[in-house]
Amino acid sequence: MRGPLVNKLSLIFGPRPPLNCILLCLVSVCVLIALLSSFSSTTFDSVTSYAKPDVYTNYRKLKEQARNDYLELKSISLGANLIKDVGLCGKERENYVPCYNVSANLLAGLKDGEEFDRHCELSQEHQNCLVRPPKEYKIPLTWPAGRDVIWSGNVKLTKDQFLSSGSMTKRLMLLEENQIAFHSEDGMIVDGVKDYSHLIADMIGLGSDTEFLQAGVRSVLDIGCGFGSFGAHLLSLRLMALCVAPYEPSGSQVQLALERGLPAVIGNFISKQLPFPSLSYDMVHCAQCGIIWDSKGIVAFVL
Ligand SMILES: *[C@@H]1O[C@H](CO)[C@@H](O)[C@H](O)[C@H]1NC(C)=O
Repeated sequence: MRGPLVNKLSLIFGPRPPLNCILLCLVSVCVLIALLSSFSSTTFDSVTSYAKPDVYTNYRKLKEQARNDYLELKSISLGANLIKDVGLCGKERENYVPCYNVSANLLAGLKDGEEFDRHCELSQEHQNCLVRPPKEYKIPLTWPAGRDVIWSGNVKLTKDQFLSSGSMTKRLMLLEENQIAFHSEDGMIVDGVKDYSHLIADMIGLGSDTEFLQAGVRSVLDIGCGFGSFGAHLLSLRLMALCVAPYEPSGSQVQLALERGLPAVIGNFISKQLPFPSLSYDMVHCAQCGIIWDSKGIVAFVL
């Protein structure tokens, strides 16, 4: 007697399906089932539950990445051509900042601090060249180490200049062989900046400089920031201090602050009002910055 399955098989394989053929069929079905079950227990679960959309987003990400890489390569190749075309500036332009030229300003008769201002009208013709990095330039240390230790070759500051600067922060600096270390935190050297900061806090009726934030002092404009140590200290108290200092052909305060990773801009408060709207800063600090506040109708606390 033939069962319905054998009838069906006989339809496919002919009237007498060979036994080994049926066996082969059964074995392959078993193998398939075994394969599928192991596959579903491991991969399928993950594929069906979350890997599928992941594959899709990954694909989109990959496409985007490829596009960005391509654009980056294109701009790099353009930039490389630009460098080749533009070339490096001469050594006399080492401190070149557009529109700032003290000697040209003096020649034009500007004085009383105005010679340090921005005067684009007196600027020489624009010469397209890349300003050279200092000869001994090294990549700055990463934050936060770079805030307290910088390469002396990166800034125009010699040991003699530093020692004769007469600045309060000078005591906090230690000139190593090719590094300048600022010990604004713990360190062996007594923290003059901390005492100074406490004095300021005391002056506005606070018990300690850690109370600045509670008192509503969050942003500070530090005019003529020297070596930036006051700003670095305020930063450790989670205050934001912006250094603004005049253009200096050598030993720039702005350059030094930027080297330490502190925000800084070139600006001269002596002759002009800078375009900061009122209430831009909660506190304005100036240590021997050369501004006679009384003559400008501003009441200032003096330490
Ligand atoms: C600054 O101005 C002087 C005098 O006009 C000029 O000789 C000198 O090249 C200028 N410096 C720069 C860096 O443009």
